[in-house]
Amino acid sequence: MDKPKVVLGVSGGIAAYKACELLRRLSESGHDVRVVPTASALHFVGETTWAALSGNPASTEVWESVHEVPHVRIGQGADLVVVAPCTADMLAKAAHGLADDLLTNTLLTARCPVIFAPAMHTEMWEHPATQENVTTLRHRGAIVIEPAVGRLTGVDTGKGRFPDPAEIFEVCRRVLARGPEAVTADLVGRHVVVSAGGTREPLDPVRYLGNRSSGKQGYALARTAVARGARVTLVTGETGLPDPAGVDVVHIGTAVQLREAVLKAAADADAVVMAAAVADFRPAHYAPGKIKKRDDVEQPPIELVRNPDILAEISAERARPGQIVVGFAAETDDVLANGRQKLARKGCDLLVVNEVGEHKTFGSAENEAVVLAADGTETPVPHGPKEALADTVWDLVAERFS
Ligand code: CTP
Repeated sequence: MDKPKVVLGVSGGIAAYKACELLRRLSESGHDVRVVPTASALHFVGETTWAALSGNPASTEVWESVHEVPHVRIGQGADLVVVAPCTADMLAKAAHGLADDLLTNTLLTARCPVIFAPAMHTEMWEHPATQENVTTLRHRGAIVIEPAVGRLTGVDTGKGRFPDPAEIFEVCRRVLARGPEAVTADLVGRHVVVSAGGTREPLDPVRYLGNRSSGKQGYALARTAVARGARVTLVTGETGLPDPAGVDVVHIGTAVQLREAVLKAAADADAVVMAAAVADFRPAHYAPGKIKKRDDVEQPPIELVRNPDILAEISAERARPGQIVVGFAAETDDVLANGRQKLARKGCDLLVVNEVGEHKTFGSAENEAVVLAADGTETPVPHGPKEALADTVWDLVAERFS
């Protein structure tokens, strides 16, 4: 089989050096990458580096190898175009259809999915001109990855940072995996909230009550939603996983904090997916000092109180009419019967039910589930990557939007 053809467009920003890592990841995972830098990008990283790392020529102008008509052929032959980093200038050119170099020509001739990974100073990102260009590109079906928040060039910090290249690679992989369908990002204009990981309920400064959730399913939901064009807020317990590219990440500890963050983000959300494993109980008292063993107490009690049921609450009081709410249920016995009862009890639109077992659910990269819907339909999802299950969830959510 031919290798998927990826065009890596690089525009003139300091993050161009980070695009070398993205290029490596794409090449090493079996993609045929053609780098198309702009003339300004070459001020940051030279043509030699792009050609050597990609194994393909790297030209900026339409006037080279004219007999091969590169300004048309490169775009026409691509399975994916990713512009990373993408400057404010490049967003403006792409939004207005300018074609004054090889990359802008390629963007006009490509009929495959296109991803832009902007990186710039916060002021430039927030400028209404840039925001309007981003909106235009998104409405045309392109995926514009929200920049990360953090250190920018010089001493500044803020929104505009180039996300981790490994995470941009994940978005590319997801978009390629969706195939031609990905040409139109079907969650564009939607805000989705995903909760992930397990909560931790502190007992004292060194101990907590927790659970075995790895967060992988929630992170897969966040990543796949970005690859389908959504604005994504991820509310997550401690997982040790890197923040996915293009996602607003809110880190929480306890169920009470999770509730607060989810309710806040859900206020303008089109969908809320509760993949987090929420502790049903928390210690009634937090000991400000470490709890010590005592020889006179053989079985020290831990008094617990109930935590709020967030899924039931957001299902009962939808922050917006038509908001779609999705829950998860990991069960060990009578999986489907328990799932159906839980769906009715929680009042959500969809409930993803899976059986807890070896290589399934906790900690694994794979999952197998049945998605139960309030309208009585059942969608079995065969054993496979958590991302495949995530895509099925978004398919079902997108159906309900329309
Ligand atoms: N959930 C929640 N708030 C809680 C507990 C659970 O929002 N306090 C959500 C989870 O995020 C998940 C769904 O509810 O989407 C089901 O979680 P589960 O623990 O299976 O539900 P419980 O109501 O705790 O059911 P069980 O009686 O099986 O413990």
